[in-house]
Amino acid sequence: MVSIDPKAIPGHVACVMDGNGRWAQQRGLPRIEGHKQGEHALFEAVEGALELGIDWLTVYAFSTENWKRPPDEVKFLINFNEEILDRRKHELHEMGVQIRFIGRRDWRVPKGLIRRMDEAAELTRKNKKMVFTIAFNYGGRAEIIDAMKQLMASGVSPDKVTEKMLARQLYDPDMPDVDLMIRTSGEYRTSNFLLWQLAYSEMLFTEELWPDFTRHSMRDAVAEYQSRSRRYGGVTA
Ligand code: IPE
Ligand code: IPE
Ligand code: MG
Repeated sequence: MVSIDPKAIPGHVACVMDGNGRWAQQRGLPRIEGHKQGEHALFEAVEGALELGIDWLTVYAFSTENWKRPPDEVKFLINFNEEILDRRKHELHEMGVQIRFIGRRDWRVPKGLIRRMDEAAELTRKNKKMVFTIAFNYGGRAEIIDAMKQLMASGVSPDKVTEKMLARQLYDPDMPDVDLMIRTSGEYRTSNFLLWQLAYSEMLFTEELWPDFTRHSMRDAVAEYQSRSRRYGGVTA
């Protein structure tokens, strides 16, 4: 097993859970079977993160661009997310996980799903082990635009705007910058995930398809992260 330095665990890990469709297609199954299998990988990621002592885990569940998919798949993803929250929120609660959500709550997100999100967040509000954020109907550009709108509405004069002020208007002002972004499935892009928070993140792209992701994948990712040298534009001593 790879060795991990417990003193250098990334505080915030963000996952682009990609490759569900291809996982299913490789097996001659419909795409939704890949999403179903992705639930197992999601809980592997959560448990792996808890074992490592990661404080913040954020996952990309549905992007502002995913509405372009065939209506049946969109419908499945909405219902499936709602069902997972309903079925598994107690388990997450027992693990000490605090569930949060980021994303636009526009007319396209059904009321039933919003209710489930609020219930899961409320149930787990006081948990301290790890903050687990689900990005649903999330787009990094939409988040920055929404933050800008609030800043402008507050009447602040343009020459007074700072990075801190904008960051305070993001969907979750408590969310720290991402230390490690993991994207599965061999695609080397962010696809509009956490654009602001990724500025100095270490990026890890793996060939594994999301349904095959396990707690060992999380450990390997953290080990790779620990081999990187983060300079933030400076120089290392
Ligand atoms: C990621 O898997 C899940 C979501 C985007 C909701 P995909 O459905 O994108 O799987 P591929 O990329 O088509 O294999
Ligand atoms: C990113 O994956 C969105 C999620 C994982 C929810 P996509 O599969 O939608 O991204 P692209 O289309 O390959 O860029
Ligand atoms: Mg994809």
